[in-house]
Amino acid sequence: GEMDLPPRPELFDFHGISMTHCFTDNWENIQNFQAKQDDILIATYPKAGTTWVSYMLDLLYFGQTFPERQISTSIYQTVPFLEINVPFMDSGVVLANKLDTSPRLIKTHFPVQFVPKSFWEQNCRVVYVARNAKDNVVSFFHFDRMNKVVFGSWYDHVNGWWKKKQTHSKVHYMFYEDLIEDAGQELDKLCHFLDMSPSVETKTWILDRAQFHNMKNNTMVNHSVVPVMDFEISHFMRKGKVGDWKNHFTVAQNEMFDEDYKMKMTDSTLQFRTEI
Ligand code: A3P
Repeated sequence: GEMDLPPRPELFDFHGISMTHCFTDNWENIQNFQAKQDDILIATYPKAGTTWVSYMLDLLYFGQTFPERQISTSIYQTVPFLEINVPFMDSGVVLANKLDTSPRLIKTHFPVQFVPKSFWEQNCRVVYVARNAKDNVVSFFHFDRMNKVVFGSWYDHVNGWWKKKQTHSKVHYMFYEDLIEDAGQELDKLCHFLDMSPSVETKTWILDRAQFHNMKNNTMVNHSVVPVMDFEISHFMRKGKVGDWKNHFTVAQNEMFDEDYKMKMTDSTLQFRTEI
């Protein structure tokens, strides 16, 4: 029950972004993190499909060569969350530095301006995943009932990374909705970006392992082993759908949301789909 959980962390303003302490306390070590040239950074706003794409990348790189890795090791360790720093486990920086694989897969929820500079100096590849605002906020709402992660405004996040993509050729910008519609095509695009050419069999195997229900039942990726979340309240692998916002927004809320959205996205060329 909720009573067993650590107290919900407070939000505070950190360089203009609303954050919680567990993602800023390790700031210096995070900023000094030494990226390697072949590191792959998976960047997202929370609840956009981070785990899905992280797992696909893990399977793509290591599924065939280290099959035991996905059976015995949690995605928390295989794809460290760079900025996390909580008392009962290694920090993301420590976990990332422990990785002896090539490449190293590293996850971040940071807005683009918070990313340690070594990632840019090393010209690392970045895979960004964005999800439409309404489903992202619904997924966030349910997650927030059992855990707290905040990385500022969704608008600033998706647009900040979108702008980065325009000037940095090594940012691959993906959409959750495209993954839902055709994960195979998205995997092909990812492989192209990563200069990889796995066999058809391997791709089929990855897509099967990374299906929602298979991930939901896989304790190594469904976050059930992470002691900060209360699965009696909501599951990490909750629904995995596009358009769940329709079950949550009233007509009035939707109108307000659309109006606000239009205003905040006027200067943006970023286009999301809310229907598949
Ligand atoms: P819902 O809450 O809408 O179900 P993140 O990993 O960034 O925290 O994102 C979590 C969201 O991605 C959850 O959304 C989760 O169900 C969804 N998700 C995770 N794996 C998925 C998969 N294989 N297929 C579809 N959705 C997936």
